[in-house]
Amino acid sequence: MEHEFWHERWSKKEIGFHEGSVNKFLYDHWPELSGDSTADVFVPLCGKAHDMWWLHDRGHAIIGVELSEIACKDFFAEAGEKALVHPGEPFTRFRHENLQLWCGDFFQLAPADLEHIRLVYDRAALIALPPSMRQKYVNHLTAIIPEGTRILLITLDYSTNIKAPPFNVSDDEVRNLYSADYDIEHILTNTLPGDHPFTKRKGLRSATESVFQLTKR
Ligand SMILES: C[S@@+](CC[C@H](N)C(=O)[O-])C[C@H]1O[C@@H](n2cnc3c(N)ncnc32)[C@H](O)[C@@H]1O
Repeated sequence: MEHEFWHERWSKKEIGFHEGSVNKFLYDHWPELSGDSTADVFVPLCGKAHDMWWLHDRGHAIIGVELSEIACKDFFAEAGEKALVHPGEPFTRFRHENLQLWCGDFFQLAPADLEHIRLVYDRAALIALPPSMRQKYVNHLTAIIPEGTRILLITLDYSTNIKAPPFNVSDDEVRNLYSADYDIEHILTNTLPGDHPFTKRKGLRSATESVFQLTKR
């Protein structure tokens, strides 16, 4: 999507993707991904996900990258926390303790920025991107994270082609996108019933969420 699309979502507060509480798959499956480690975590297209406070409270240092300054400011303000702000190009950095939000374009990140990262949390990042951008996203992610990095990836699939995020990404597409550079473990698929708020809002009969653990070779 164009940057303007996301800036408009944030300025109009059309942020139905924001959960406001810890994602249940993160809560259930992060421990098996991270073990006992407090390794550094990268959160692409992070929004103001509360999940980052949860990861922070588990002792991880975090870098989230997010286009919207509104999201970055709200993230700290809504938690009643202050962030030190370091304006710059291509990123303005918001820092509270070892939790940083880098406000700018994911595609401007370089390998040196993330050389200390060992874990990645992708919820609603891959599926926020239209089909034409997904391979570019995976290629760039692969270029900037170190070998051995593990990713918790959460996707969403449904049968109708809706031309707005969240896009449907099938399990086969995940395999096509990642198998050249990652070992892939499909952890689970969860079916959302027709009366779930998401399926109701989109007029879908059902949808499925999948959770993957990916390890960069
Ligand atoms: C669907 S939301 C998901 C946010 C978050 N992961 C969550 O679970 O709530 C996608 C986010 O990606 C941000 N975004 C889109 N394109 C981006 C880019 N190229 N670089 C950084 N952030 C981007 C948008 O502003 C939006 O907040």
